[in-house]
Amino acid sequence: MGLERIQKILAKAGIASRRQAEQMILEGRVMVNGQIIRQLGFKADVFRDHIKVDGKRLLKPEPPMTYLLHKPRGYVSTVRDPAGRPTVIDLLKGVKWRVYPLGRLDFDAEGLLLLTNDGDLAYTLSHPKFSIPRTYWVKVEGFPDPLSLNRLKKGIKLEDGEAKALSIRVLRQTEKHSWAEIVVGEGRNHLVKRMFLAIGHPVLKLKRIGFGPIRLGNLPIGQYRPLREEELEKLKKMIEERKKVGTSRPMKIEGRNKSHRGDSRNDYRD
Ligand code: URA
Repeated sequence: MGLERIQKILAKAGIASRRQAEQMILEGRVMVNGQIIRQLGFKADVFRDHIKVDGKRLLKPEPPMTYLLHKPRGYVSTVRDPAGRPTVIDLLKGVKWRVYPLGRLDFDAEGLLLLTNDGDLAYTLSHPKFSIPRTYWVKVEGFPDPLSLNRLKKGIKLEDGEAKALSIRVLRQTEKHSWAEIVVGEGRNHLVKRMFLAIGHPVLKLKRIGFGPIRLGNLPIGQYRPLREEELEKLKKMIEERKKVGTSRPMKIEGRNKSHRGDSRNDYRD
């Protein structure tokens, strides 16, 4: 985060608007490392400097942290569950930050789940307008033929609008089942299950193995780790590229709530 203008720090901390914060500085109500600051251009580091307003210490914000969890089946992807089922937060033993799941994986699904306390990152990665690719391995009943798979690629009608696979391929087949890899660019509820159901092949198992450039890799089930710097860089690069190119679909999604910004921890769906 580094150095920032003191009025910006106060505004971000919710103490006052930037303009009000400037007034507070001019009035001599703000101290940095024991010195009253009256300069509007003064910069401080919110993590390193000791900042006081009206004699009260400004609490340090949480550093932005993002974790990758290998979610097992039998866990809900929310912070709390009214039904009392285990939540993915129960698996983050030792994480002291208030992170929340970025998108959802169904209770009976497993695989890659990102958790973050970085609201901007969560908002961008969850927004359908950026169409971040999610990669899933699914076990389905029967043997989907090329025609049906093509229907998923071209776009199939679901009750809440059309859904499209960005890519799809059969990985292997057993006596009664097939495994396929499917990539979709959004996180609507039960999307992959509903897509396969629409072509007559119910999903029996679902595992997410990729989210944008991030891969689950060989992280053991139930374990988590912080995202590596280079992974965060790749994610941010992907977002920047998408912002430049424009978007692949309009902001308004038919049949769905127009507002995606909600401030509830449970607003990010997957
Ligand atoms: N699609 C689904 O059907 N379920 C998930 O958990 C994720 C995507």
